[in-house]
Amino acid sequence: NRIVWLNGNYLPADEAKLSIFDRGFLFADGIYEVTAVVDGKLVDSALHMARLERSARELGLRLPITTKAIEEIEHGLIERNGLQEGLVYLQLTRGAEERNFLFGEELEPTLLLLTQPKVLVDVAAAKTGIAVKTLADLRWARRDIKSVSLLPQVLAKRDAKAEGCDEAWMTEDGHVTEGASSTAYIITHDGKIVSPANSQRTLPGCTRQALVQLAGESGLILEQRRFTVEEALAAAEAFITSASTFVMPVTSIDGKPVGGGKPGPVVTRLREIYVDHAR
Ligand code: PDD
Repeated sequence: NRIVWLNGNYLPADEAKLSIFDRGFLFADGIYEVTAVVDGKLVDSALHMARLERSARELGLRLPITTKAIEEIEHGLIERNGLQEGLVYLQLTRGAEERNFLFGEELEPTLLLLTQPKVLVDVAAAKTGIAVKTLADLRWARRDIKSVSLLPQVLAKRDAKAEGCDEAWMTEDGHVTEGASSTAYIITHDGKIVSPANSQRTLPGCTRQALVQLAGESGLILEQRRFTVEEALAAAEAFITSASTFVMPVTSIDGKPVGGGKPGPVVTRLREIYVDHAR
């Protein structure tokens, strides 16, 4: 039985109970973070904690404990569950009260943390690449906040899967914004990494931030600009990043091959760089 942490207590998952009046449930009034665990250690935790604080601040949500205390609980869960490789999921909501769009000022926030085992390093898809499907980005205008309001992404992933794809690339004004749960990139024929600049249109990826720093040390430059689906189809390589996929080659878009349909040298190198860092 998996141990989770809810509002101050470690307890078995099936004993963790939440109010039906929780605003996370009624209004998706909450935020989340997903952090990778490799060899029992958190990956890029400082970046995830910084983004959590930012998301909370933007929505006026109160973090009931410090990010240092959160990291200690995450280590506590990794230890109690014997997690070697996988994810830590964190969700913070505004708390529970009688249903009302307006929220009370004195609410006790709900904080949940749980672990999920998942193979991250040795994944077969990293050798073959994944297929993505493009579709319209139907989300709201503050995608820089890691909100639990994920219905557009849930539907996008369903539609991608229905066509045999592993991820959806969402588009707006003819440009790719990001993946349903990942940051999107292409590599140009002159070897530049291209990904949209951080803005309110996309989530600032922690994996991206860490990777850009590491890639820079290896002389690889990130060009921060948008790209179209046509440009991606004509690119040398394409890939995604996220805490749950690390660096993952994209080898087909809407059923058409990218970069010869095989993971290319740059993305292969970037994945090695990131996996070394995660270890
Ligand atoms: N998703 N863009 C979106 C819309 C995301 O949901 C995510 C992460 C990312 C990549 O962010 P990071 O590198 O910090 O994981 C970009 C997580 C993994 C999820 O929803 O499960």
